[in-house]
Amino acid sequence: MIADLTGKIAIVTGGAQGIGAGICSVLDEQGAVVIVADKDVLGAKGTAKKLSNPQSSHMHVDVTNDASVQNMTNAVISNHGSIDILVNNAGIIGSDGWWTREHGNDEDWQLAFEVNVRGVVRCSEAVTPHMLKSKYGKQVNIASIAARRGGGLPYYCVTKAAVVNWTQSKAAALASSGININAICPGLIWTPMTERIVKHRSNFNLSTSMGEFKDKDEFDQLVKGWVPMGREQTPLDIGKLAAFLASDDAKNITGQAFNVDGGIYMN
Ligand SMILES: NC(=O)c1ccc[n+]([C@@H]2O[C@H](COP(=O)([O-])OP(=O)(O)OC[C@H]3O[C@@H](n4cnc5c(N)ncnc54)[C@H](O)[C@@H]3O)[C@@H](O)[C@H]2O)c1
Repeated sequence: MIADLTGKIAIVTGGAQGIGAGICSVLDEQGAVVIVADKDVLGAKGTAKKLSNPQSSHMHVDVTNDASVQNMTNAVISNHGSIDILVNNAGIIGSDGWWTREHGNDEDWQLAFEVNVRGVVRCSEAVTPHMLKSKYGKQVNIASIAARRGGGLPYYCVTKAAVVNWTQSKAAALASSGININAICPGLIWTPMTERIVKHRSNFNLSTSMGEFKDKDEFDQLVKGWVPMGREQTPLDIGKLAAFLASDDAKNITGQAFNVDGGIYMN
């Protein structure tokens, strides 16, 4: 067992697919009751169906919408009585069709900020009063190695740097209340988001500090060349660290951002 989460009530945003679905499955293995919350309600239902705890469920949430986040929070409190763990994973690169634009437009900047930064803040602020009441809470924010160095999609990279800074600010503010807040910076993971990054590169024949990849084969080549450990990361890798950070075994860790990237960045 990585971390004992038996009976803990965990919300995972963006759990319908990709990294979020991996996080849900690891938290489930560790004994948590997982609420898979996503804008994509069918996808969330699909993830929840695979979980073993009969109390686990799925829920619609749009993290850009105050009322929607409040409804999710109220529903979890009313169904389960507490919220012990929040994993802020929902994220986007830009607004719909961003991969058809070489450079981000105003809408890309605004929506990326609204989902990736304000979405994290909104969910954190909605659950924190309940965590304060129960004097227990773990929040894990999914940032990115894009937070560590600017890249070809600046409207995305700056939001992830903001998530790391928010994690530190909020962790400092809540440290004396016993609430732990940490971030994870995933490296290169093949998910629907990565497929769209590939489309973007291919549409504009781009190559950046990350190299160039036009399909999964080229992605694999990039991984071999760029990741010191020579292998891609997986949603389960992120889930395992999220489970540890959400457990009491990590009770003295707060305000940190951990790279899970096979050694790309060492800081
Ligand atoms: N894939 C990677 O290599 C990688 C690397 C570093 C960081 N990340 C980060 O990890 C997280 C998950 O990425 P992924 O690759 O699994 O992406 P993905 O696009 O495959 O999945 C993202 C999920 O978030 C949901 N979502 C989007 N907007 C939402 C909203 N407004 N409200 C609620 N849910 C919403 C989507 O419906 C989807 O299920 C993101 O925060 C991303 O920035 C991914």
